[in-house]
Amino acid sequence: MDIQQNQKLQGKENIPSNSTHEEMRKYKVAIIGSGNWGSVAAKLIASNTIKMSYFHDEVRMWVFEETLPTGEKLSDVINLTKENVKYLPGIKLGKNVVAYPDLDHAVEDADMLVFVTPHQFMEGICNRLAGKIKAGAEAISLVKGMEVKMEGPNMISTVISRRLGINCCVLMGANIANEIALEKLSEATVGYRENKDVAERWAQLFTTTYFLVTAAAIMRIGLIEMRTFSKLLFPSVKDSTFFESCGVADLITTCLGGRNRKVAEAFARNGGKRSFDELETELLNGQKLQLGRLREGSTVDRVNKPSPLVIAIIEKAVLERATEWPALIVGRDKTSKGDKGSWDGSTEGGWIKEMATE
Ligand SMILES: NC(=O)c1ccc[n+]([C@@H]2O[C@H](COP(=O)([O-])OP(=O)(O)OC[C@H]3O[C@@H](n4cnc5c(N)ncnc54)[C@H](O)[C@@H]3O)[C@@H](O)[C@H]2O)c1
Repeated sequence: MDIQQNQKLQGKENIPSNSTHEEMRKYKVAIIGSGNWGSVAAKLIASNTIKMSYFHDEVRMWVFEETLPTGEKLSDVINLTKENVKYLPGIKLGKNVVAYPDLDHAVEDADMLVFVTPHQFMEGICNRLAGKIKAGAEAISLVKGMEVKMEGPNMISTVISRRLGINCCVLMGANIANEIALEKLSEATVGYRENKDVAERWAQLFTTTYFLVTAAAIMRIGLIEMRTFSKLLFPSVKDSTFFESCGVADLITTCLGGRNRKVAEAFARNGGKRSFDELETELLNGQKLQLGRLREGSTVDRVNKPSPLVIAIIEKAVLERATEWPALIVGRDKTSKGDKGSWDGSTEGGWIKEMATE
């Protein structure tokens, strides 16, 4: 369901006349994460909860506590200034956003949980929250990437659902948080498995007049390979998903702007002589790249068709310099790391399969 479709609901003050008792409740919202996108999510949500009667005004935002160079705690500064001075400086989040450094307190009694931290922290967060979530609570994941274990990959929404025993929708789109923070037009898609009403409630919570796309261009091969790759890992993925905001539009946006492009560009400009880790630290001020997810994988060995773009990236950006993880990508044990092999350019089989099966 496209958020745009819910524009008509935006700004609605009162509960619809045919509302059931269930709808009379006020939903409490908690945001788990307060980085760049987490803070923008807080701004979007807070602007809606304050005007829609079926949400509690207060939006709780869990802040992974940090001490700022001034010696102040980040959560204290957010509560005082209503601004995330580290991850979203210069933008007011809304007077009804309250920062909580304690995770348990942040989620206490919450009916709607918004997960928006870098994917690498999600497992630990879910472990900490297990057994502490209100019965009947609903979740949504804004987290990109996936959890990759030796047994196979899992979508983050699946990790949340399984670990916390709650339903979890997903919100994805061609979204650059800093642009949305400046109220530049953008859009996203809410994905759901079970309950359309719940998905609509999520869409209402996020929809604003400006959160609806950014520039579009090429990237045809990338899209094809993404589709192949996604279907390999998750065979139930629908082709139509790649034409949604979370597919082609997100691909374009990611290629044209944002942190991954910024660091990748610096990596290329430096001729691959400086590591991603180094550039991430230098350029992102604490923000995280979405590169880590490949580090732990073993399942990509099932790639049995050549993906020239993916292979080029692995060869140029990863295998050339990485010491700890390339072997896993191609399904070899760690003893074989550093052995890159090569893709023969054929249309069947290909380099990754060759590496995986020899
Ligand atoms: N920023 C964007 O434009 C954007 C857009 C769409 C989706 N996303 C996705 O949203 C998710 C969150 O990204 P973001 O931009 O809000 O975060 P970010 O990269 O800006 O910030 C990193 C966050 O991680 C927190 N953190 C650091 N160490 C931690 C730890 N040990 N445990 C828990 N948290 C820790 C930091 O406090 C900070 O809040 C990511 O999956 C990202 O890919 C981001």
